[in-house]
Amino acid sequence: MTQSFLSVEGLTQRYPSSEFGELTVFENLDLKIEKGEFVSITGHSGCGKSTILNVLAGLDEANEGVVIMEGREVSGPSLDRGVVFQNYSLLPWLSALRNVTFAVESRHPEWSADQVKEHANYYLNLVGLNDGVEHRKPSQLSGGMRQRVSIARAFATEPKLLLLDEPFGALDALTRGTIQDELLKIWAGTGQTIFMITHDVDEAIYLSDRILLMSNGPYAKIAESVEIEIDRPRSRGSIVEDALYYDIRNHLVQFLTSRSKEFSGPSSESGGHLPKMVRLSENSIIKKKTMAL
Ligand SMILES: Nc1ncnc2c1ncn2[C@@H]1O[C@H](COP(=O)(O)OP(=O)(O)O)[C@@H](O)[C@H]1O
Ligand SMILES: [Mg+2]
Repeated sequence: MTQSFLSVEGLTQRYPSSEFGELTVFENLDLKIEKGEFVSITGHSGCGKSTILNVLAGLDEANEGVVIMEGREVSGPSLDRGVVFQNYSLLPWLSALRNVTFAVESRHPEWSADQVKEHANYYLNLVGLNDGVEHRKPSQLSGGMRQRVSIARAFATEPKLLLLDEPFGALDALTRGTIQDELLKIWAGTGQTIFMITHDVDEAIYLSDRILLMSNGPYAKIAESVEIEIDRPRSRGSIVEDALYYDIRNHLVQFLTSRSKEFSGPSSESGGHLPKMVRLSENSIIKKKTMAL
C-alpha cells in the first residue's frame, strides 16, 4: 500500500480536570490525508479541533499517538507546515509587513532584502493590505486586518501543509469571499495540502475535497469523512445549483444539530479507526433511480 502524505495514528489527548479528574478530549483518532487534498474539519466548540491542528503543526504534543508527514514523524514545528491561528498571533512589536518578511526570511534565507519585501508585499496586496496599512503594528489594525496579515504570512511561506484554524472567522462577508477565492487559486497553483477548521458549512463545501465531521467531546471522534464530489473549478454562484449541494449541506447540518451528540463516551473498540467515508452522490443516484421507477 502506498503511504499517505499525512497519517495520524492513535492520537489521544487528555487533560487533568477538576470536574472529571481527567478529561479525555479524544482517544485513538486515526486520519489520513493525501498530497494536494483540501480537507476541512467541523464540529462544535471544545471538541478538540484546534488541538488536532496544533499537533499536526508540531506545536503541541498529544499524550499518545503519532503524526507522520511524508514518511517522517512530526516532532516540533517546521517551515513545511504553515499555520493561521484562530487568534492570529502576530508579533506585536513588528509592522504587518515585517511580520510577513520575518517569516519569508526564515523560509528563504538566500533571498535579498528586496526580493523578500516584494514577495511579502505581493501576498499583503492579495489580502487587501496596502496603501501604507502594511506599516502599521498589529495594535493599530482591526481584528479582520490582523487576520489578513496572518493569512498573508502563511501563504507567503508556501508551506507543503497549510493549517488553517477558522481563518476567515473575523472577516466581513465580502473580504471572506475574496480571500477564499485567492486561497483556491494559490492551492490550485501550488499543489499544497490544506487542513482547515471551519464552522461555516457553505465555506467548507465550497472549498473542500472532503469534510471531516467531529462529534462532541469528551471522547470526541472524527465520525465521518464526507466526500465533496462537486466539479472544480467551482463558483459561488453555480455551486448551489449542483444537484449534490443541498444533499451535502443537509447531511452536514443534520450531523451538527443532532448526530454529533450520538458518539460521545469511550469507544468499545480497542484499536483506532478511520472515519467512515460518506459519498452522497451514491444516495442521490439511488434517490433518482427510485424516483424514476
Ligand atoms: N491546556 C489545556 N488544559 C486543559 N484543557 C484544555 C487545554 N487546552 C484545551 N483544553 C480543552 O480541550 C478541549 C478541546 O479544545 P480545542 O481543541 O481548543 O477545541 P475546539 O478547537 O474544537 O474548539 C476543550 O474542552 C478545552 O477546554
Ligand atoms: Mg478551536
